[in-house]
Amino acid sequence: MLIDVKPLYSEIKNSIMDRMSKLKKVPKLVAVTYKPDPSTISYLKSQEKAAKRFGLDYEIFEASNSSEVLEKLRNLSEDKSVNGIFVTHPLPELDEMLVFENLSPEKDIEGRHPYNLGMLMYGNEFFAPCTAEAVVKILENVTEITGKNVVIIGRSTTVGKPLATMLLRRDRSATVTVCHTKTKNLAEITRNADIIVAAAGKAGLVTKEMVNADSIVIDVGINVVDGKIVGDVKEEVSEIAKVTPVPGGVGRITTALLMEHVVKSAEKMNF
Ligand SMILES: NC(=O)c1ccc[n+]([C@@H]2O[C@H](COP(=O)([O-])OP(=O)(O)OC[C@H]3O[C@@H](n4cnc5c(N)ncnc54)[C@H](OP(=O)(O)O)[C@@H]3O)[C@@H](O)[C@H]2O)c1
Repeated sequence: MLIDVKPLYSEIKNSIMDRMSKLKKVPKLVAVTYKPDPSTISYLKSQEKAAKRFGLDYEIFEASNSSEVLEKLRNLSEDKSVNGIFVTHPLPELDEMLVFENLSPEKDIEGRHPYNLGMLMYGNEFFAPCTAEAVVKILENVTEITGKNVVIIGRSTTVGKPLATMLLRRDRSATVTVCHTKTKNLAEITRNADIIVAAAGKAGLVTKEMVNADSIVIDVGINVVDGKIVGDVKEEVSEIAKVTPVPGGVGRITTALLMEHVVKSAEKMNF
């Protein structure tokens, strides 16, 4: 069975529209990129469409060298007309920590600045990483999290690690296992989970044999196979367990939350 995230998306969208109507100015999101590859270009196009759909001002800045990226991030951080800054990933020739250190944490709508990630550890974040937040929102919408065994496949700073931290928070209190490429007997671990979050970026990694009939499976993966976008979870899994679709699942909620973060920043800046 597929999990329908459309009602959650509409709820987030309606809340954004309501909050936007109380602002005096239109919030602005700027995406900064450097040597974008075809998938980054395609992602930025869809981000631009989403920003328009939500009624936000949107701009893409393509740097011509790596030091221009850092200079632009510092300037945008100071610019009072800009509320959110999105940095495409990965940025060639640049260390991720250095990139985020040149960005104001208050405009770090992706929640990847060391300050925001540190606050996440205290359970007091202003911006959480959007994809991890999207997974939490979907889970809260479909099930009770407290006491559940959650297995996360993937330990990146963008998804796996922040998600584990968010699920461990006392008001959620899941029991979390984080798996990676050195994990032994992955199938055995996932079969015993109540909730599986697949965030490995490997098409077809999660198969029918790795889930049980009561499993809730959140598919974070985005992979291109034969020109089609697919997740990390094989289609057959939805025959026995509840699974979020790809596309139209986690990605849809992540985009909405990114826009929500821009509005949150605008509210803080008294827009
Ligand atoms: N839907 C959305 O909005 C959204 C947002 C962001 C990312 N994504 C997608 O989510 C996926 C993960 O993104 P990411 O940035 O977290 O990727 P990443 O930085 O490449 O991390 C992938 C993680 O998965 C683990 N992994 C890879 N293959 C594995 C395997 N066969 N078994 C167990 N673990 C395995 C890796 O383990 P090691 O640490 O041992 O290498 C690593 O921890 C990608 O497909 C990405 O496109 C989707």
